[in-house]
Amino acid sequence: MSEIIVSGMRPTGKLHLGNFHGALKNFVALQDKYKCFFFVADLHALTTAYKHTEDLAANSEQMLIDWLSAGVDPKKAHLFIQSDVPEVSELNTLLGMITPLGWLLRNPIYKDQLNELLARKYAGQLKGDENTPLAERVKGLADEDISVYGFLGYPVLMAVDILIHKAAFVPVGKDQTAHIEIARDLVRRFNEIYGVDNVFVEPKPLYTEIAVMPGLDGHKMSKSYGNTIDLGEDLESVRKKVMTMFTDPNKKRANDPGNPDGCTVYAFHKIYNPDYKTRCAECKAGALGCVACKKQLFELMEPQLKAFADRRKVFESDKAQIQQIIKEGAKAARESAAVTLAQVKRAMKITK
Ligand code: TRP
Repeated sequence: MSEIIVSGMRPTGKLHLGNFHGALKNFVALQDKYKCFFFVADLHALTTAYKHTEDLAANSEQMLIDWLSAGVDPKKAHLFIQSDVPEVSELNTLLGMITPLGWLLRNPIYKDQLNELLARKYAGQLKGDENTPLAERVKGLADEDISVYGFLGYPVLMAVDILIHKAAFVPVGKDQTAHIEIARDLVRRFNEIYGVDNVFVEPKPLYTEIAVMPGLDGHKMSKSYGNTIDLGEDLESVRKKVMTMFTDPNKKRANDPGNPDGCTVYAFHKIYNPDYKTRCAECKAGALGCVACKKQLFELMEPQLKAFADRRKVFESDKAQIQQIIKEGAKAARESAAVTLAQVKRAMKITK
């Protein structure tokens, strides 16, 4: 039997091309090689957005439609929504009992995210300038909104997602390393306390190879920076965005020699243009202007984006099929989860 993979994404709204090239394409590649469980982490979305749940169900469904349109195949991988698997919440309670508070309070992702959320909320009141560390800039600002038990417990829930299916590998970004470490530590702690070694598997991260995709302005593509191109975005809007992309600021005229390193258009050519090396040489030689280079990039992107949009329309118009996929995914995930949960309860001696 092939090894097990688990990965999830929070349904925080539209996916962008960075998510597509960074994570989704990887899902598509992995589904042929492993037994995959891919899920929409709607409970994790609640850890920070618990006051804004009105779009949560719709966002979860939209995320699944994006996955399907990208080629994630429910015949190959189990696709489900986290909250459809109540075993996850039950194991979350149990593992919560053995998780030392210090692990959670020291979790660097928790601190970073807390600061980032605070910075966004209190944007006008930050201290210092951009070179001041975020932790300093947000000091003293009220944090009652996200100082909740659920958010602190984010890594426990994530460990549960992974451990409940006995995953060997977890495809994630490098930014999730500390979370995977906590999952591994929890396995060892569980084994030590209950004297077992065969309930859980210690998961390993599987980092995606693709470099971070730059956004329109040259910074990492991210929703919070407002520099994204979204999956399924109107093509005319994409064309306009491509024409505004950040390029080498020293290449002022079309025939000035340019430096492709750090140029967003070039980073995109690397993805969409099989002949990107020629483009690079032409740029360096001053043989091609940025406007022409951008036009060509859009022409290369267009058919792929259109194919995605067309597939999306088909799925979007067949909600019954989506519901069926979600139902079958939940069934498979629950079956797999129930096995582990029963073993955990036996080890903890809470079965009657
Ligand atoms: N924390 C992950 C992220 O923000 C999402 C996630 C939740 C996840 N549970 C998971 C990823 C389990 C992998 C496995 O990207």
